[in-house]
Order: sequence, then C-alpha cells, then structure tokens
Amino acid sequence: MSKLEIKNLHVKIEDLEILKGVDLTIENKEMVALLGPNGHGKSTLLGAIMGNPRYEVTEGEIYFNGEDVLKMSVDERSRKGIFLAFQNPCEIPGVINADFFKSAMNAHSDKKISLYKFYKELENATKEVKMPFDLVNRTLNEGFSGGEKKRNEILQMKLLNPALAMLDEIDSGLDVDAINIVSEAINKQFSEKDTSFLVISHYARLFDLIKPTVAYVMINGKIVLKGDESLIKRIDKEGYTWIKNELNIEIEKTDKKAPISIGTCATKEVIKNGSSK
Ligand SMILES: Nc1ncnc2c1ncn2[C@@H]1O[C@H](COP(=O)(O)OP(=O)(O)O)[C@@H](O)[C@H]1O
Ligand SMILES: [Mg+2]
Repeated sequence: MSKLEIKNLHVKIEDLEILKGVDLTIENKEMVALLGPNGHGKSTLLGAIMGNPRYEVTEGEIYFNGEDVLKMSVDERSRKGIFLAFQNPCEIPGVINADFFKSAMNAHSDKKISLYKFYKELENATKEVKMPFDLVNRTLNEGFSGGEKKRNEILQMKLLNPALAMLDEIDSGLDVDAINIVSEAINKQFSEKDTSFLVISHYARLFDLIKPTVAYVMINGKIVLKGDESLIKRIDKEGYTWIKNELNIEIEKTDKKAPISIGTCATKEVIKNGSSK
C-alpha cells in the first residue's frame, strides 16, 4: 500500500519560482502520466519529491503514507520506497555498477543480502531488461550509451522494488526495441508488485505501451488538467496550444537554459563539498 499526497507545493531554484502550487495525489497502484511543455517544472517536481538539494521548497506539503516527506533526508525517502530514475543519469567513475546496486539494496534492508541471492536477482533483472551482464561489472554509467543508461535505471528500479517509481523521460534516447523492453519491464513491475508509477514523457508511444490509469498536464509550474488516455492522444496530435485557448492561460516562455542533469549536478556537489548542502 502506498499513497503520495502533494499539497500546494511551491519550489524555487536559485531565486526563480518554478513550481507554483502543485496539488497531486497518487493512490496505491496507480500508473500516472505527467505531460507538459519543456521547462515547465516536471523534472523539478520529481526532484523535489526525491529531495534534490538544488530545489528549495518554499511552501506546501508532501506526504508519503501519511509521513512528512519534507522532513526526511534523501536516503530516508529512498528507504521509504520512493525511487527516481533520472532524465540524464550521471556517470560515477570508480564505482562499479554491481557494487552500487548491492550497496543500495543493503541500505534498504536490515539484513545484508547474500552474495548468491544478489547475483540471482541481478541476473534475473539484467535478463528482464535485456542488458548484457558484463555491463554490471563496468563503472556506473561511464561510457554507457544513452539507452544503456536508461536501462540501467530500470534495472536499479527492479532491484530496489520501490513503492513509488518516478521515471523522468525514460524513453528519451531509446530505439523502438529498447522502448518495448523498458515498457515490458515497467508493466511487469506494475502488475506483479505493489509499485505505483509517476511517468514523465513527451511521447504517446510509451504511454500506449504502459497504459497509464490517469494523466496530468503541467503548465507554468501547476497541474492544469487531469484526464485519461484520450488527453494523451489529443496532446500527441495537437500539442498544447488548445489547452492555452480552452483554459484561457498564457503559456509562459521559459528561459532557454540548457537542460541540466539534476543527478549529475547534485552528485558533483556532494563529491566536491563532501555534503549535500
Ligand atoms: N538545476 C537548475 N538550475 C537552474 N535552473 C534550473 C535547474 N533545473 C531546472 N531549471 C529551470 O527550471 C525550469 C523548469 O525545469 P524542469 O523542471 O527541468 O522542466 P521540465 O522537466 O518540465 O522540462 C526551467 O526553466 C529550467 O531552466
Ligand atoms: Mg524534464
């Protein structure tokens, strides 16, 4: 059982308000699609839920199973079952992929996982995402192709078995075969385990395959529309202009900063400063 409740969330990055009052509830075993034009705060929302220190929550609340998420450190959030697959997974030289997975799994449980059980789980999960097993012995994401990085995120999700998996443009950079593999892995997790999903994507193709139970649109740092499959199809065909007209809202121009890899930035800061602040 899991339930995420977000109330009136306001988030700033470097004095710029990005989220301007987000209300969102994700019930147990929901498959939620989050769409919206670029630069309107989708990744910021996921980063704020996970606790990325770059994002300053200035107002509002986030509860996970009734517990105050904003009071938790990032690792506590993770141990409570919240998982984020990055839009741009970071490369961490010197850290072996398999060691990273094992440490993460151990951090999530009171008892250390046996080497045998770990390898079995790792073998099964790599098969499921059709990843060559030797990738687990390479350093974390270093030199991985875009598609391999994304599959590595899904592999990590499988191993950690979260209650809430947030996937940020997991399909970007994937070829058709890889999108099918990733979607199958998501569907298997959704049907067999108690995992809810919050999935950001620009493409109806992914949503056709994973069949969200509900879809939300974020514009100007707020959720402005809720719908179902038909909403995703309409956006795929017509874009976002009709929403502007129907809801009578201006779609604000976002500054054209290069997209920032939130994972990479946060990780580099921790390495550089020795802490997350
Ligand atoms: N780490 C950051 N530092 C400064 N500005 C950022 C950072 N991350 C995102 N932004 C800005 O916040 C806005 C929202 O970005 P984002 O949440 O990534 O949008 P989306 O995921 O909807 O494309 C954009 O204008 C972007 O330039
Ligand atoms: Mg984004």
